[in-house]
Amino acid sequence: MTLKTLEWKNNSVIMIDQTKLPNTLEFVTYTDFNQIADAIRTLVVRGAPAIGVSGAFGLALAALQSDAKEKDELINYLENAKKVLFETRPTAVNLAWGLQKIMQVAKMADTVDEIRKSVVETAKKMADEDVQINMSLGKNGSELFNDNDTVLTHCNAGALATVGYGTALGVIRATKESGKNIKVIVTETRPVQQGSRLTAFELKHDGFAVSLIPDTAVGYIMANKLVNKIVVGADRILRTGRVYNKIGTYQIATMAKQHNIPFYVAAPLSTFDLKSNPEDIIIEQRDSSEVTGIGDKKTAPDGIDVINPAFDMTPPELISGIITENGVAKPPYEDSIKKLFEAN
Ligand code: MRU
Repeated sequence: MTLKTLEWKNNSVIMIDQTKLPNTLEFVTYTDFNQIADAIRTLVVRGAPAIGVSGAFGLALAALQSDAKEKDELINYLENAKKVLFETRPTAVNLAWGLQKIMQVAKMADTVDEIRKSVVETAKKMADEDVQINMSLGKNGSELFNDNDTVLTHCNAGALATVGYGTALGVIRATKESGKNIKVIVTETRPVQQGSRLTAFELKHDGFAVSLIPDTAVGYIMANKLVNKIVVGADRILRTGRVYNKIGTYQIATMAKQHNIPFYVAAPLSTFDLKSNPEDIIIEQRDSSEVTGIGDKKTAPDGIDVINPAFDMTPPELISGIITENGVAKPPYEDSIKKLFEAN
């Protein structure tokens, strides 16, 4: 059984508290959309698809919380909740996608009871579909991987970053499920350590052959031919194929090019942002404490200036293919991405 990252149960949202991993597998239960906003902000839940569905669940909770008697009143309440949820994290486009989808459904309903019913049903459906989509993209991606491949991944794009199964790790799971032997190398992913705390935990939990490396060993691993393919997730992909993902992705892709190692990105269509231009994208800057310490241990001098971007941009020329539920986009991306959406 893979981990169930988040679910809707008895009019509440249950999620794994990812800040406690790998030491404790603890579940938290929320009934207030403000709690969901806090959970997204503090990384109790993280990963683009997971925060997309969390946003949708947050609005579903808001619809139940509000005592509005008229449609307009309830829509206003939801608009306010949407704003609170939207402002939690700026880079992953899935959050805006999840919130917009729920607002559309809410506006189409006629009465407050219908709104409540339809937003809860839609949010639950989005959660179920997330797993199905990941399984489809996993299957599409598995065809790019061979028996006895050793694959490097960065951050966590696994079951823990989605409702279940994962995107980059979904590809790895589907490859194994197709009968191929596959080994995984996981980067630690400083400063928040999604690689060591989450991906290493998840893959070990699910019985994969996995090795953990410090981020600084990526060049060594590639130069010594200890890896032959790379697959990562994404937080936002533009129509030109520019990929925004966890900080450190760009340097891994650059190093992969240097060593002729295929570099793949796996993401659902909900991670694509076909409208924005590079200058519109906000790279989240996180608190300096993530860099000046590890856990409670201080690892830098007091008062040091810190630069802590949570994401970076990998340009299309470094990417060998973008794996989605509708197929694999190959360069030139402007054309192939368009075709993926036309197939929808
Ligand atoms: O800061 P995080 O942990 O939310 O960042 C997560 C990532 O960068 C993932 O690689 C990305 O969201 C894809 S998850 C399927």
